[in-house]
Amino acid sequence: MTHSNVATNMANKIAVVTGGSSGIGSAIVNRFVINGSRVISIDLKKPEFEIGTVQHFDCDLTDESAVSQVFEEIAKLHPRIDVLCANAGIVPAWSRIAETNFSDWKKVIDINVNALFLTISHGAKLLRKGSGTVVVTGSINSIKGDPNIASYVASKHAALGIIKSAALDLGRDGIRVNGVAPGPIATKALISRIEKRLKENSGTLDEYLAKIADQTALGRIATEEEVINTIEFLALELSSGITGQLISVDCGA
Ligand SMILES: NC(=O)c1ccc[n+]([C@@H]2O[C@H](COP(=O)([O-])OP(=O)(O)OC[C@H]3O[C@@H](n4cnc5c(N)ncnc54)[C@H](O)[C@@H]3O)[C@@H](O)[C@H]2O)c1
Repeated sequence: MTHSNVATNMANKIAVVTGGSSGIGSAIVNRFVINGSRVISIDLKKPEFEIGTVQHFDCDLTDESAVSQVFEEIAKLHPRIDVLCANAGIVPAWSRIAETNFSDWKKVIDINVNALFLTISHGAKLLRKGSGTVVVTGSINSIKGDPNIASYVASKHAALGIIKSAALDLGRDGIRVNGVAPGPIATKALISRIEKRLKENSGTLDEYLAKIADQTALGRIATEEEVINTIEFLALELSSGITGQLISVDCGA
């Protein structure tokens, strides 16, 4: 690859995004569409945005046969894809380990680990050899513990293991696998989780957000746009020398 043919934008790329119906996933979908990609979004629920040119597939990514079927459908439309953003995930309600219900624990692992495995396993078969990229949405909890969400921390550490292993595996086909590790991002999902916690404790949403902002080097929380900038960078040949990495976008938390 010479420098002159390095793609520096998403024009004409074919991208599959999981969890594309809301939050960070819908922001990825929007950015890629604006920048000229053909985007396929896979989610349990219908998108919160106007579908327009985006192809949406309803699918529970924890269901192996459903995942296999969706990727077969995608293959009929696009025998090769350029980018796979494995973003779908859930964050559980706060609970200490001794109070965590086993079925809640397994649900988090099922979506954040097993569905991630199924996504990469089925998606990898369609990725263009020599230039395909996978970008996983990890978390700062891929590298940091949290006393209130052990299942989430375990699942996001597993995501880092999958990134590193898949990078070694798919690297031989010229496919790169990286992840982004957002700090708290004020998506609707995060705001509603904070509001629930505040009902059980004291304080306001603004005070809570100011407190977490104050704990970062930059004195603010990262924005959805900053996360998407990094995902786009990792999806593009601009990052061609980078694989098996998890890049934090957390304003220095
Ligand atoms: N918002 C944050 O502060 C933050 C911080 C770090 C990491 N993350 C990660 O970012 C990703 C997106 O989170 P978000 O905040 O945008 O949340 P969100 O709830 O807005 O989006 C998650 C999407 O995944 C979909 N999804 C969940 N389970 C699914 C399943 N079984 N099959 C198909 N789709 C499924 C949901 O329907 C939803 O549209 C997650 O992996 C999350 O762990 C978020």
